[in-house]
Amino acid sequence: MSERTIAVISAGIGQPSSTRLLADQLAAATRADLEHRGVAARPHPVDLRDHAHDLVNNLLTGFPPAALQPTADAVRGAAGLIAVTPVFNASYSGLFKLFFDVLDDAALVDKPVLIAATGGTARHSLALEHALRPLFAHLRAVVVPTSVFAAPEDWAGATATGPLNARIGRAGRELADQIARREPAAPADPFALTTSFEELLAGE
Ligand SMILES: Cc1cc2nc3c(=O)[nH]c(=O)nc-3n(C[C@H](O)[C@H](O)[C@H](O)COP(=O)(O)O)c2cc1C
Repeated sequence: MSERTIAVISAGIGQPSSTRLLADQLAAATRADLEHRGVAARPHPVDLRDHAHDLVNNLLTGFPPAALQPTADAVRGAAGLIAVTPVFNASYSGLFKLFFDVLDDAALVDKPVLIAATGGTARHSLALEHALRPLFAHLRAVVVPTSVFAAPEDWAGATATGPLNARIGRAGRELADQIARREPAAPADPFALTTSFEELLAGE
């Protein structure tokens, strides 16, 4: 059974973080669905708060600091991405956006992505549709139809058969479906040149 990696990004700030909790539940649902189809999957959790300073340095210098490189590589090489942000001022958080601003333009092309968010009020759930979905459409990712929003009342009333869990299950199923229908990525060659000699000579 070939194993697929799922990058699970949370831009949550709190400790503990409801955004991380939602991201983990989405990863578990996706993994369970993939395993049901005979596809092994390994979530790769990423907490952007741990990389906040490096992300700013990357933006200012144009180069990823050494500590950020493995995370960027993991997202680039993942079979799928779960991207979860807290809603800040009716949109994604600045930290969430910053990660995708410093990731190269082609990193998410054709990559299956599940979008989700947490917030203080369910009134802002459409931030997923007016902010996150267009961002990932611009990056040419394949965003699954079901997005998941969790407000405080969703957590308070959460049960195994409740609406939040049902939505998590449906979104996980849709992401698993997109991952399973693609060929597993070939293992990355650590010695491969990512820049051509022409680009090197031109100082790019
Ligand atoms: C600066 C700031 C702005 C926020 N703006 C919104 C908002 O516009 N709408 C909303 O529903 N929640 C808003 N919130 C609440 C957070 O989205 C909510 O607390 C989030 O679930 C926290 O996630 P965490 O526990 O993973 O850090 C805001 C919180 C902060 C700190």
